[in-house]
Amino acid sequence: MHSSAVSLAPEWLVVPEDPNALAPAVWPASAHRDSGDVLSIGGVSATDLIRDHGTPLLVLDEVEVRARARAFRSSFDAAAKAHGTTASVYYAGKAFLSTAIARWVTEEGLRVDVCTRGELEVALAADVDPSRIGFHGNNKSVSEIERAVQVGIGTIIVDSAIEIERVAEAASRTDVVQRVLVRVNSGVHAETHDFLATAHEDQKFGMTFADAETAVARIRELPGLEFLGLHCHIGSQIFGVAGFRESASRVLDLHHRLLAGGEVPLLNLGGGFGIAYTSVDDPTPIEQLAAEIVAAVAEGCAARGMSMPQLAFEPGRAIVGTAGVTLYEVGTTKEVRLDSGASRLYVSVDGGMSDNARTALYGAQYSARIASRAGTGVPVLARVVGKHCESGDIVVDHEYLPADIGPGDLLAVPATGAYCASLSSNYNHVPRPPVVAVSDGRSRVIVRGESIDDLLARDAGISANEGAR
Ligand code: LLP
Repeated sequence: MHSSAVSLAPEWLVVPEDPNALAPAVWPASAHRDSGDVLSIGGVSATDLIRDHGTPLLVLDEVEVRARARAFRSSFDAAAKAHGTTASVYYAGKAFLSTAIARWVTEEGLRVDVCTRGELEVALAADVDPSRIGFHGNNKSVSEIERAVQVGIGTIIVDSAIEIERVAEAASRTDVVQRVLVRVNSGVHAETHDFLATAHEDQKFGMTFADAETAVARIRELPGLEFLGLHCHIGSQIFGVAGFRESASRVLDLHHRLLAGGEVPLLNLGGGFGIAYTSVDDPTPIEQLAAEIVAAVAEGCAARGMSMPQLAFEPGRAIVGTAGVTLYEVGTTKEVRLDSGASRLYVSVDGGMSDNARTALYGAQYSARIASRAGTGVPVLARVVGKHCESGDIVVDHEYLPADIGPGDLLAVPATGAYCASLSSNYNHVPRPPVVAVSDGRSRVIVRGESIDDLLARDAGISANEGAR
C-alpha cells in the first residue's frame, strides 16, 4: 500500500483494499466487472458503450430507476396505509428529465413534479397525464401558468401572494377550477447530514406561516381556485428523519389552524432524500424513512386531535442518482508533488464541470473506478479533473486509484444520474454528452449528444445562421 509522510487525503477517505472494487451503495445493482474485468452496467460493457456512443457518456440503468421508483411508491403506500391514509409520490424532474425517464417513472406509478415550462413540455411530450403533474417555482410567469392551467395540470404549488392572483386569473380565463397548494417556509433547513431549525429562514422559497394563513384565506375566497393543502420542502441530500419530523410538526400547527376555515385534504412534504455518493455515505433505507416520516405525521395529527391528511412526497435524486454512471476517457495524468513531500495524481478526463457541475458548485464528493480493465498498481491519492480552463474544474476531488492509470483508460464516475445532465452547460464550447439507457444487455440513446455543429448553429455571426432567431 502506498503511503507518504504527509497525506493530502481527507480524513473520511479510506485507502481501499482493492482500488478496483465497486462499493454496492454507490453503483446500480447491475454494475459488476465481467470476466475480462471490464465494468458492465445493465448487461452492457463499458467498452461496448464507448464504441457505440463515445466519451464522455452518461449511462442510465433503466432497471435501477424503475426499481427505485417502485420502492418509493410501495414504501410510502405501505406507510400511509398503516396510518389510514394514502400517499402520492411525484418524481422531481429537476433531478433529470427526459421523455424516457418520465415514462419509466409514471409506468411505475409515480406522478411528476416540474418547475418550468420546459420541464412541463417534456412531461407532456412523454404523455404524462397532466392531472398527475405538480407545478413548482418561485417565479412562474403568466404564460407558464396559463399553459399549465390550459393543459389541465393537477396542482400548482403557489409561492407568493402575487401568484395566487395570476393563477386565479388564468383559471377564470380558461373557465376551470385550479387546485393549488401553498408552499410554506417552515424554518427548517436540512444540511446533508444535519438540519437547522430557525424561526424564519432567509431564503426565496415559500411563505412564512403568517403570510401563508392570509394566502389561504384569499384562495378560499376565489371561485377559480381550490385549496388542497400546504407544501414544504426542507432541502436536498438529507440523511435521517429528524429534519422531516421537525418540519412536519411545525407545518401541522398551521394545517390545524387552517382547518377552522375549511378542509385541508393534503400535506406535501417535498423531496430531499439522500443517496450515497461515496462508500462512507450511509443513507437510511427508503422503507424505514417512509415508515418513520409517516409515523411522525400521524403522531403530530393525533396530538392535535386531527385526522390524517393525504400525503405527497417529491423525490428526485433518490430515484435517478445512483442509476447514473458517467464514462470518461483519461487523456493525461500528472503527479503534483508539493514542498511538503505530499503528492497527488491529477487524472484529466475528456469532460468536467460542463457535464458535472456539482463538485465545483457544492463541493460535492464522488468516487471513481477504472472501467476498461482492473488496474494493477497500488492505490494512489488522485483527483479527477476535467478539460475546462478553470482550476476548480474538478470531477472527483479525492479518490484512491490504481497507480498505473493512464491515457486511454476509461474512467467511470458513479452516482451521476441526478443534477448532472440537468445542470450541464456548454462552458468552453464543450458539447454536452449523450445520455444512454441500458437494460437487458442493450443500450439506446435517450438524449442525443451535442455536436460542434449544434454549438455553431446558435452563433448568429456565422453566415449560414444569419438572420436566424
Ligand atoms: N421538491 C422541491 C420543491 C424541490 O425544490 C426539490 C429540489 C425536490 C423536490 C427534489 O429534491 P431531491 O429529492 O432531488 O433532493 N442541484 C442541487 C439540488 C437542488 C435541489 C433543488 N430542489 C444538487 O445537485 O445537489
